[in-house]
Amino acid sequence: MERRAFLKRLINFSFSILVLITGSVLVYIYPSKMKERKLHYVYLIDEDELPKRGVRKMEFKYKSEDIAMINRAYLVISDNSMNAFSPVCTHLGCFVNWDNNKMEFICPCHGGKYNQKGEVTAGPPSRPLTKLPLKVMDGKVYLGIKI
Ligand code: FES
Repeated sequence: MERRAFLKRLINFSFSILVLITGSVLVYIYPSKMKERKLHYVYLIDEDELPKRGVRKMEFKYKSEDIAMINRAYLVISDNSMNAFSPVCTHLGCFVNWDNNKMEFICPCHGGKYNQKGEVTAGPPSRPLTKLPLKVMDGKVYLGIKI
């Protein structure tokens, strides 16, 4: 085998090994990104315990074979609608707080503000709060989360 052909094969082989190692490392570091996340409904509250209107911070638990977590969401109830929002600010991911006096969600990090519909009213966020799916079944309210 000529020296040039040998070097070409060696380079190709080395590149293949590098791609294989890089792929394995990425799958190891980001396994959840490789799997498609599925929608799961978790129990939130009994329907008869719901407030008539207003914003309520809800904590919920989810547990499966490989994951257990406690998380939160905001439930916004008006005369004719009920919505749930993620508390994660869409700017850089801080948790927003509901201010009952000002009637708005306020992000403590950079002053982002959202109204009751989750729409941005001030600050750097460019997208509204993430709306989460809700389902009412047999008198119980369930929240949809992607895991
Ligand atoms: S993270 Fe909320 S405004 Fe920046």
